[in-house]
Amino acid sequence: MQTSNLTTIRDVAGKVGETVVIGCWLQGKRSSGKIQFLKLRDGLGFIQGVLAKSDVDEETWAAAQKLTQESSLYVTGIVREEPRSPSGYELTVTGIQTIQVTEEYPITPKEHGIDFLMDRRHLWLRSPKQRAIMVVRAQIIRAIQQFFDERGFTLVDPPVLTPSSCEGTTNLFHTKYFDEDAYLTQSGQLYMEAAAMALGKVYSFGPTFRAEKSKTRRHLIEFWMIEPEMAFVDHEQNLQVQEQFISFVVQSVVASCRTELETIGRDVSKLEQVQAPFPRITYDEAIELLHKEGFDLPWGEDFGAPHETAIAEKFDRPVFITHYPASFKAFYMKPDPTRPEVVLCADLIAPEGYGEIIGGSQRIDDPELMAQRFQEHELSEEAYAWYMDLRRYGTVPHSGFGLGLERTVAWICGLEHVRETIAFPRTLYRLYP
Ligand code: 4AD
Repeated sequence: MQTSNLTTIRDVAGKVGETVVIGCWLQGKRSSGKIQFLKLRDGLGFIQGVLAKSDVDEETWAAAQKLTQESSLYVTGIVREEPRSPSGYELTVTGIQTIQVTEEYPITPKEHGIDFLMDRRHLWLRSPKQRAIMVVRAQIIRAIQQFFDERGFTLVDPPVLTPSSCEGTTNLFHTKYFDEDAYLTQSGQLYMEAAAMALGKVYSFGPTFRAEKSKTRRHLIEFWMIEPEMAFVDHEQNLQVQEQFISFVVQSVVASCRTELETIGRDVSKLEQVQAPFPRITYDEAIELLHKEGFDLPWGEDFGAPHETAIAEKFDRPVFITHYPASFKAFYMKPDPTRPEVVLCADLIAPEGYGEIIGGSQRIDDPELMAQRFQEHELSEEAYAWYMDLRRYGTVPHSGFGLGLERTVAWICGLEHVRETIAFPRTLYRLYP
């Protein structure tokens, strides 16, 4: 078979009445006596092939009967419009060339346990729901890049191997860099601050790593982050960019991925509500709200997943929690000038219990305060000398944030666990496949 002569399922729309050849896999089949219905997929789409015994030769009929789930084949057929089919088209099959009849395929339409599926992630990806999630993820990335590219941001790639930490030292991935110690990046932020001083508005998109010993439905060891950083932008403007950004991304997915969201079983009306502006509450107000809900959490302690969920339940769209205590937040966050015990930061909590999707802040721009923070956090001034230079040579107010891609995909797709949001998840106990 000349693969250059093939048509993809995506392209059959323009070929009604024509005979086409499609390279595909058999997802499943059913038969009613003298007709076989073949569920075909080529990765780009799905189509039903209808094979009538009276229309084909013995050989084709026999070939179809031998096909098992995930067998690979070339199907020749005439494209027909079929309003009852999800794609709107159907194929009247006239010929079949089998590439491989697959031995018993491990993933059948029956229910499988999660460990069974994760061990076979390389095959599980072929199922319609998993495929749809990957398509939505790709659209989210496209929308993210479109949002920033259209607003004058430049894409900058920070390094993956770093000599020091950004988000504390507890979950660093250590490695050797020849004779030196190095760590896989936890966040590109510090480098993006340098890039913002060169390019004004920048964003990065890349993998980040945290050796977190947390086995929760929101934690991955390797996850992808989008980190915008903006010179001459304060806390308030930072929040405005975030709410416009998230609304843009969600509405872009709603507009482009209806079919996939339906396959995944997502209630789209919940996503349609996601329009800026987003509600905001301070950490103090959040603590008060939690006390009213019966939580016994003293001021000065960080929120866990149950707290975030209780807060999110009060709102129909993402909610910002602002002005956290400086005591448990990162060293680089700028204190509120009117109340230095809290910082000009915000976490954005997704609705429906999906937790924190963004962490961001205005950064300290004063060199003296920054030096003081290095001491308080016991960070080596030598290791961060380059970062200090940003405060020494033309310091300016600046802000930025980091969006966790997998948590965003989990929320937009309505998934129970982040492990389904990335093709090959790295979780606490999983490095295979
Ligand atoms: O709140 P975080 O730790 O913020 C930073 O790293 C900042 N330096 C970002 C910045 O200002 N440029 O992480 C940002 C986001 C979280 O809100 C969450 O969505 C995601 O990254 N995240 C994780 N996602 C999956 N698995 C994990 N282990 C994650 N840790 C953080």
